[in-house]
Amino acid sequence: MTASTVLIESPREAADLLRGGGLVAFPTETVFGLGVDATNDEAVQKLFVAKGRPSSNPLIVHVADAGRWSDAAAMLTPSAEVLLAEFAPGPLTVVLPKRAEVSSLVTAGLGTVGLRIPDHPIAAEIIRLAGRPIAAPSANRSGRPSGTRWRSVLEDLDGRVDAVVQQDGPSLGLESTVVDCTGPIATVLRPGAVTTEQIRRILPDVREIVSAANRCDQPVVLSPGTLHPHYQPHASVHLVDSPTSISVARGDRAAYCGLLPVDTPDSLAMHAVYSTVGEYAAAFYEFLREADRNEVTTIYVQLAPDEGIGHALRDRQLRAAGER
Ligand code: TXA
Ligand code: MG
Repeated sequence: MTASTVLIESPREAADLLRGGGLVAFPTETVFGLGVDATNDEAVQKLFVAKGRPSSNPLIVHVADAGRWSDAAAMLTPSAEVLLAEFAPGPLTVVLPKRAEVSSLVTAGLGTVGLRIPDHPIAAEIIRLAGRPIAAPSANRSGRPSGTRWRSVLEDLDGRVDAVVQQDGPSLGLESTVVDCTGPIATVLRPGAVTTEQIRRILPDVREIVSAANRCDQPVVLSPGTLHPHYQPHASVHLVDSPTSISVARGDRAAYCGLLPVDTPDSLAMHAVYSTVGEYAAAFYEFLREADRNEVTTIYVQLAPDEGIGHALRDRQLRAAGER
């Protein structure tokens, strides 16, 4: 465990810490990542401890640009090639055969690796200067909502990591789309900002295993992370279609988040409403955290429409409510 966590701004400082086996949280266009040298077993081990992450859940490996794919993966498959050509850099992770130099702790012993090229100038600069593949899970304690603000990252990881890059900016607010590209048919393992419809335009056969329709009858778990509790605040989360169905019990501190237009009960301790699904997605994790800070006991969450980025938001909402 690290005794004190420093706030830093310079990509050079972040890269030097990473090269020395340190743990550094930095912003990406999705959520903050907690970075570590993916080739350093000892450092990777520290990261699992810092997050309290089960060692069976593999980490995504980040490289600075698509041309550096071979820093993490042993080969590019045809589906990965077309996906990277279309969506890299961006909120996409392609699962590929692993390169030997990537620590097997990173991949939880799997022969595959999740490869991602973040579309964020600071993240890209840090990885480029570090000069090695950087494993980076979301920068939160395992099971908690992902951090989308440096203060939220510090809230979870202060004293457990070496540094946090003190930089907030607009972010998508949800993690990358994870696509298994190892087989003949590309398979979406975790929905994200790159939608299955967008992928289908270039890979017509693409399928998705993480959908509400098949979540109960899917025997093969291809993405180990989908097994563990995720995105959960301390408050209990209830999914609702509209705020009209909320009835706040006496003594309950309730919160609501959803889309406009709304007519919320007066008895709420806090609420937030968004005019677009994109804004809702960007703010969702931070709303859950803010509810915890305000000692809310029940959070009513309006389910997002199941289209575009709403599909990914809905997936996170179901998990936050413990329904996946
Ligand atoms: O947007 C993101 O992807 C963020 C930023 C920081 O890049 N990272 C992120 O990492 O969300 P994490 O560790 O919170 O989620 C990684 C997901 C997990 O569901 C994990 O099981 C899956 O990716 N994953 C990683 N490597 C895999 C592999 N080799 N095969 C299948 N799934 C994999
Ligand atoms: Mg995560």
